[in-house]
Amino acid sequence: MNFESVLAGLPDAVIAIDGSGRVVFWNAAAEELTGRSARRATGRFLKEIVAPAASLVRRLDETLATGEHRSEPEAAIDTVEGQHIPVSVVTAPLFARDGRVEAAVAVLRDVSRIRQLEAEVRRGETLAAAGRMAVGLAHEIRNPLGSMRGAVQLLARELGAESPLLEYTDVLTKEVDRVNRIIEMLLDLARPVQLRLVPLNLHQLLERVAVLSEEMARERRVTIVRRYDPSLPPIAGDEDLMLQVFHNLVRNAIDAMPNGGHLTLMTRVSRHPLFGKIDLGTGQRTFVEAQVGDEGAGIPADVRSRIFDPFFTTKDRGLGLGLAVCHRIVEEHRGTIQVESTEGRGTVVTCFLQVAK
Ligand SMILES: Nc1ncnc2c1ncn2[C@@H]1O[C@H](COP(=O)(O)OP(=O)(O)OP(=O)(O)O)[C@@H](O)[C@H]1O
Ligand SMILES: [Mg+2]
Repeated sequence: MNFESVLAGLPDAVIAIDGSGRVVFWNAAAEELTGRSARRATGRFLKEIVAPAASLVRRLDETLATGEHRSEPEAAIDTVEGQHIPVSVVTAPLFARDGRVEAAVAVLRDVSRIRQLEAEVRRGETLAAAGRMAVGLAHEIRNPLGSMRGAVQLLARELGAESPLLEYTDVLTKEVDRVNRIIEMLLDLARPVQLRLVPLNLHQLLERVAVLSEEMARERRVTIVRRYDPSLPPIAGDEDLMLQVFHNLVRNAIDAMPNGGHLTLMTRVSRHPLFGKIDLGTGQRTFVEAQVGDEGAGIPADVRSRIFDPFFTTKDRGLGLGLAVCHRIVEEHRGTIQVESTEGRGTVVTCFLQVAK
């Protein structure tokens, strides 16, 4: 049996170093995980390839020194492109005939999908909690708001059409209405949505969104680029709600590029390991991907976990509801929404949506 080919074909990354810390084995999964080819990795010191402080290096060094296993379930590894990928690391010693530790091998498993799903569940819980709170609050707030609005209108009438004080009653009315709109939106998040699912042509839908945003894009010197897959099947979606999703995403992308840039609308049939499933009945893939990409500043790591929270915003005039609403709608469609962002390079939001049956 050829053990090397077994190791080479493992879905987990396998990396081995000799006693001096040089890479002696780097399988295909390691190439894929790190973005580094085996040809360029083997023979070099592992410390020179990955950060010397990385868990992988430390655990392998410990195993070389002690001859013992090490395991770290929550480690991370950086790819050539600077992406930080969560992995679990397990190391083991390889002994020479005389009992010396000759080499050490590490198995790394990419746990980003698991982390994504965990985040997804947490996000859903936060939204549900926010929704329940909103329903409770809304009833308490809407009645006094209604009274305030009525009182302000009476006051305005008493003051008469010529009064300079009308300026103030106007402000009061407008602000009361604004608070009401915020509550309505929050309630929208909490209400069960009635989906009217129809087969939708995503490209037509995206074009409608593009037309609506064209003027704003032009003002900000944002160019809209289309990369549509012509073979894309129709999705099962509620037209108004889907328009809302992509409108929000396109708005965010434009907001992210105050100095202009490219906004990319991309579609494709999904080959994602989780969502790219094939329907056994029809033999077709069951999800498509629709992406909105920008060349903005990206989302800082500490902000990333909060962008789907209702009312989280970094904008002066933002409500922070856009992504919460998108998330809600896509979830209702039994799809998923994912955000990938590289600081300084831009952000790509991907919606995984079900193909119409
Ligand atoms: N494409 C993007 N690039 C950079 N940051 C983004 C992008 N999309 C969202 N964000 C960040 O996520 C935050 C939340 O986005 P969200 O759409 O929920 O609210 P908002 O755009 O601030 O306000 P609203 O959509 O309610 O007008 C934004 O304030 C911004 O910090
Ligand atoms: Mg927004």
